[in-house]
Amino acid sequence: MKTVVAFASRYGSTKEIAEFIAEHLRRGGASAEARSVEVVSNPEDYDALVVGSAVYMQRWMDSAVEFVHEHQAILAQRHLWLFSSGPLELPPELVAKNGLDSVPKEIPGLQEALKPHDHRVFFGVLDPKKLSFKHRALRKLPAARPLFPEGDFRKWDEIKSWTDEIAQSLSKGHAVSEKGA
Ligand SMILES: Cc1cc2nc3c(=O)[nH]c(=O)nc-3n(C[C@H](O)[C@H](O)[C@H](O)COP(=O)(O)O)c2cc1C
Repeated sequence: MKTVVAFASRYGSTKEIAEFIAEHLRRGGASAEARSVEVVSNPEDYDALVVGSAVYMQRWMDSAVEFVHEHQAILAQRHLWLFSSGPLELPPELVAKNGLDSVPKEIPGLQEALKPHDHRVFFGVLDPKKLSFKHRALRKLPAARPLFPEGDFRKWDEIKSWTDEIAQSLSKGHAVSEKGA
């Protein structure tokens, strides 16, 4: 099963998650590569796709949304997993107070249209040194400050376990061609 982990990443942390997933799949014997959604022009060449995006303002990045819409017909026929990378591990009371939903707005519609095997949200990274001028200014607003803590909140064990689930499903997929089998 040839697999691509297609990612959209602004500051690189989602790219690293995608590379980790591809590498872990390869270690398990699968054929897998991580590629930016901007360069995957041939999703039909893959048996399985893992598509992930960083999350900004509760949305996937435009390039990821464009990718899934452009290739919707193919993606709906392939073994597909989705992930989002964003939350910065805030105290639950802050999440509740600000009505923050860790699931990006596009996901319910994508789940309906594409029937992925799964969608997962992984914690992200905030490195103030990397932020654009606009994002840095936004983070400095008094109301926003507590919502954007600095740190690398990624939980590699969780990402690894999820990748193991994908690998298991892909190995079963050798014997069957039907999506969802
Ligand atoms: C301006 C800004 C807005 C953000 N908005 C959200 C959001 O709505 N939901 C979320 O889960 N994470 C949000 N994040 C956190 C990012 O998703 C996180 O930093 C992610 O790891 C960035 O991935 P990247 O390095 O691949 O670009 C935001 C970060 C910034 C700087």
